[in-house]
Amino acid sequence: MAKITTHKLQEMKVKGEKISMTTAYDYPTACLVEKAGIEIILVGDSLMMTVLGDDSTVACTMDQMIHHIKPVVLGAPTPLIVGDMPFGSYNVSKEQAIMNATRLMKEGRCDVIKLEGGKEVADTVKAIVDAGIPVMGHIGLTPQTVSKLGGFKIQGKGDAAKDVLEDALALEAAGAWGIVLECIPDELGKLITEKLTIPTIGIGGGRYTDGQVLVFHDMMGLFDKFLPKFVKQYLNLTPEIVKALEEFKAEVKSGAFPEEKHTFGGVTEEELKRLY
Ligand code: KIV
Ligand code: NA
Repeated sequence: MAKITTHKLQEMKVKGEKISMTTAYDYPTACLVEKAGIEIILVGDSLMMTVLGDDSTVACTMDQMIHHIKPVVLGAPTPLIVGDMPFGSYNVSKEQAIMNATRLMKEGRCDVIKLEGGKEVADTVKAIVDAGIPVMGHIGLTPQTVSKLGGFKIQGKGDAAKDVLEDALALEAAGAWGIVLECIPDELGKLITEKLTIPTIGIGGGRYTDGQVLVFHDMMGLFDKFLPKFVKQYLNLTPEIVKALEEFKAEVKSGAFPEEKHTFGGVTEEELKRLY
């Protein structure tokens, strides 16, 4: 399949073809997502929680992002690879934002970057786009500023719907190629998707966004600290993997593993006798 580009995704929106996106943070996962033909891979800073065990995304560093983007790029040549800009890597100045976005592209080798925020980051988004780097926005529930939002909860209810719409319009005007809509009402996701010409990708953004994104570990049952309402678990791998590990343990204890077929020869009886 041909490499997915932002232009292709834009065409998909126009044709009404839905877009699929999942996270990946390492080579084997990237290979699986590539095989499934998913259009976009996000190397999200959610890796702090799903694979590094932290309780938020705030502490994520540029070096950690680059470390995880590289193997994903190697494992998945076809999907568009989105590299997440970590908290604090784009809010100091436009220069800082351009330098860090450039690092993700040059050292990580992702295709585009993503950052969180609406109106307040529109100028930054424009500056990064002007520097030649395609930017994806992320509004609604923005996990990097979860303490400011007062917790992981739905955004854009009632009067606040207007703010989320304005954020979306500001990002489009700033030149973003697409936007993640996280945890907003179904009807608001529909309105924003209709108002924008660029693709919207929802995560808890309802049924009408141009595409859907889920965190790999959530959808595969590999992360059970909490399961948001918007997650659909397509597989529950945790009990299956634990069962395999228990079998291994039992076979090690009993001696059932390894069998002869798992062993190596190469020393003759004669040679052995001399050693005993
Ligand atoms: O880091 C991440 O996985 C994300 C998704 C929730 C969109 O930003
Ligand atoms: Na993220």
